[in-house]
Amino acid sequence: MNTLARRMLVTSALPYANGPIHIGHLVEYIQTDIWVRFQKMRGHQCYYVCADDAHGTPIMLRAEQEGVTAEQLIARIGAEHRADFAGFSVGFDHYHSTHSPENREIATLIYERLRDAGHIVRRTIRQAYDPLKAMFLPDRFIRGTCPRCGATDQYGDSCEVCGATYAPTDLIDPRSALSGVTPEQRESEHLFFQLGHFEGMLRDWIVTSELQAGAVNKLKEWFDAGLQDWDISRDAPYFGFEIPDAPGKYFYVWLDAPIGYFASFKALCAQRGLEFDAFCGVESSTELYHFIGKDIMYFHTLFWPAMLHGAGFRVPTNVFVHGFLTVDGQKMSKSRGTFITARTYLTHLDPEYLRYYFAAKLGPAIDDIDLNLADFQARVNSDLVGKVVNIASRCAGFITKHFDGNLSAQSDEPELLRRFQSAGESIAQAYEARDYSRAMREIMQLADLANQYIDLRKPWLLAKAQEQITVLHAVCSTGIELFRLLTIYLKPVLPGMAIAVEEFLGCAEFTWSAAAETLGAHRIKPFKPLKTRIDPEKVAAMIEDSKASKAPANPLPQVQAKASEPAIPEISIEDFAKVDLRVALVVDAQHVPGAEKLIQLKLDIGTETRTVFAGIKSTYRPEELIGSQVVLVANLAPRKMRFGTSEGMILVAGSGNGELFVISPQSGAAPGMRVK
Ligand code: 2FM
Ligand code: ZN
Repeated sequence: MNTLARRMLVTSALPYANGPIHIGHLVEYIQTDIWVRFQKMRGHQCYYVCADDAHGTPIMLRAEQEGVTAEQLIARIGAEHRADFAGFSVGFDHYHSTHSPENREIATLIYERLRDAGHIVRRTIRQAYDPLKAMFLPDRFIRGTCPRCGATDQYGDSCEVCGATYAPTDLIDPRSALSGVTPEQRESEHLFFQLGHFEGMLRDWIVTSELQAGAVNKLKEWFDAGLQDWDISRDAPYFGFEIPDAPGKYFYVWLDAPIGYFASFKALCAQRGLEFDAFCGVESSTELYHFIGKDIMYFHTLFWPAMLHGAGFRVPTNVFVHGFLTVDGQKMSKSRGTFITARTYLTHLDPEYLRYYFAAKLGPAIDDIDLNLADFQARVNSDLVGKVVNIASRCAGFITKHFDGNLSAQSDEPELLRRFQSAGESIAQAYEARDYSRAMREIMQLADLANQYIDLRKPWLLAKAQEQITVLHAVCSTGIELFRLLTIYLKPVLPGMAIAVEEFLGCAEFTWSAAAETLGAHRIKPFKPLKTRIDPEKVAAMIEDSKASKAPANPLPQVQAKASEPAIPEISIEDFAKVDLRVALVVDAQHVPGAEKLIQLKLDIGTETRTVFAGIKSTYRPEELIGSQVVLVANLAPRKMRFGTSEGMILVAGSGNGELFVISPQSGAAPGMRVK
């Protein structure tokens, strides 16, 4: 470790223990892992911990449905998660579970300290209750008709069609998604954390923590809106920790989830003899960083620092927020085969391809990133195989054949070597700032220089002339030296390849400072191909395997969707005749600014043009709809929405899991034709 070593504790968000890790999750784990590996290579004392987020209603219900205990479910999923992370070389120092003794102990301690300091208040609230399941219903488990736009089968807290947010009591015709019965309103006493007590402290913290600009702006919006008390309790039945002084009540999953970071670290402290307080105590002089997605900022930049401060723990040094992943410009989709689990990916492709591609796309801002599958293949082939590995494969064979594996002490181009070495600091700064795309760009520019150098010196020609043998030796040795430096710089991203190169070159583990040295006269082993081009058939097979019908089913959402379908009464042919269904041609389709789900359609129905807002953005891009025919409910009363008036509704099939299929007539139909 160097004398200026920093001490850091780093975390990624805890994945829920009820579903598989997918490539969307992996953006964050790979982003964090690269940063941690970089810090370790720099000689810093850096610990990376994570855990499964094991509590809450969905996990309890999923276990019930599978006929296992919640403990059995989380043990199984925990093992799957660990295997997936290992497959992608995500190198946690410790991976724990929030359902652990350490977490119970710290959650209880934090709660008691907050309570004793007067930050917890009890209030009786009215809440939806499912009398059949004998449980209170989280908002997401209530479905009904949106009070604003009239869309059916919407969640209890927000409408996927018009974007409205509301209380579940505002829903029209509410039903329990678990049993289908109409929920009752029942009273229950809940415990609230008084976030408003911490506004001053949080305002100071956002200045000292150097949060990203996007995060600071969001926080200012939240301050302006006013900080509300936070409900931290849930009634039994609930899978979690019972609140010590409130029998029958449990900590809300989001209360003990971030505490799981500390619990995981505490378990690591016990394993390695580390001092917990030195990292988590209020006097701590170490650094604490959380990598998270933009959807869980509120929890990590308001509740979590406030809880820590209120309970006498240190607060995070910073919270690094990233955006979401799209695949080929769209949300991951089971029907398109782009909802790719870590396991499916691993059965087809080298995980380091994805690590490299994400690194090449990730910057320090909260932007979404896109996995464009064609670009992914082109970039991996061109950069990793065509540029980096190619340097070694162009030089190593000559070293083995003509020089018995011995490198020359003599460099043919010391200036170029020095240039590579001095580039290390700028690359390091880019890693430190999480600007991996800049780091990858700078490394690939160096790789281009190395290839240009080999092109110029043409070792294959030098090898033909005996009098050039010393030059050949120096040129190929220089090529290998350059390749080694590139591998050191890429090691945080490609740890597996770096190990193979350490082995090939017969070197000790690469640290960042190893780039200051060169190999000189040194024996290497015969070269074996380190990375091969991506086989497009493997990408196609991965997509095929990810398609909805092939992916392992998650029974809970399906059963929920079924349970939430309202019983539709039989109708007469006369009733049906009242619905004027028409073939319509989509003549224009546009995004609706500010609407998460809606696309605005201009529909030609033969006699006139209609404007319709359709909640199909999760599955379709506007441009792909233009020119297609759809079926319009033409005599639906116009509906005023926040974004304009919708003059009808198009027919869409969906199972309730977010996937949608616009219904379209066979070719030959014309706008205005009646659909019967
Ligand atoms: O959003 C999620 O997937 C949560 N399981 C993340 C928890 S992060 C931390 F707070 F534990
Ligand atoms: Zn609505």
